[in-house]
Amino acid sequence: MLGLKLYKYFDLNSKSLSVKLFNQRLPLIYIIFNFLYRIIKVNPKINDEEILKFHNSGFVKINISLKDEIYEFKDKFFLKNEDKKDKKRILLELEDKDKKILITKIKKKLSPFLNKLENYFNCDCIISDVEMWRNYNHGDKYDLSKEHFNNHFHQDSYLMTYNKIFVNLMDINEEDGPLEVIPRENRSSFVKSFNYKDRHKYDLFGDQSLIKKNTGKLGNCCLFSSSQIFHRAGVPKNHRDNMQIILIIFPKKYSEGLDKIDDIKLFDDNFKSYQKFTKPYSILKVISLFFTLLKYKKNT
Ligand SMILES: [Fe+2]
Repeated sequence: MLGLKLYKYFDLNSKSLSVKLFNQRLPLIYIIFNFLYRIIKVNPKINDEEILKFHNSGFVKINISLKDEIYEFKDKFFLKNEDKKDKKRILLELEDKDKKILITKIKKKLSPFLNKLENYFNCDCIISDVEMWRNYNHGDKYDLSKEHFNNHFHQDSYLMTYNKIFVNLMDINEEDGPLEVIPRENRSSFVKSFNYKDRHKYDLFGDQSLIKKNTGKLGNCCLFSSSQIFHRAGVPKNHRDNMQIILIIFPKKYSEGLDKIDDIKLFDDNFKSYQKFTKPYSILKVISLFFTLLKYKKNT
């Protein structure tokens, strides 16, 4: 009986234990990976304000606007499965030929920033998925038992080799349900103030000044480390249109050609192809990935 209780207490996959001990809702092995990776592998000393902010806060608005690219294609977006009226998140789609042109332009525009990120991570960085969607208003903002589109505070259960760029597909103010993040430096204050126990168990009315809202103009971009920082989707008064670009840090040399994925296919769900670099399912796989990344040097 005692053994059973101890096992329960020392369950290393327990996210509630991670919250208690480390103020993070991640598997313990991912916390250790990120901790060591930050100390040994990344290079925050490059003289760049955006990278430094990203390193310290896990969130940065980047000085690139995709306004022209979005305006060019805005009228071509269409709502997929629009008939599903009860859904609170609906995907925005494009014809294949438009996807190809749009992603080529986005890659070109983001390329200087992705180069900086590669220097920071001391590894290759590629875009693995692109998704566009519209979030709608719902009446369950204060009901933690109901979640419609990741609108409760959480961290994504990935390694820090998984990052996201959010692009505003419209002007987004406080009423449009912007992405809300807890900068890394506010993490422990957040857990304390919101009495955070789990995704569906915390006090909604903790210190609101700890929350940073990603408001901004159409085309604005922000980068965030969704595994390292707490975040949630705000609930819009009407709706919010957003583009999500997933960035994967991985050694191209061992990628088995995954970096050559077709541009149109970037708009599909490519999770399985990149899972072993961002979300390994066993402790051994995490350790093995850590050492692979550690010995890898960009351009070798
Ligand atoms: Fe998330």
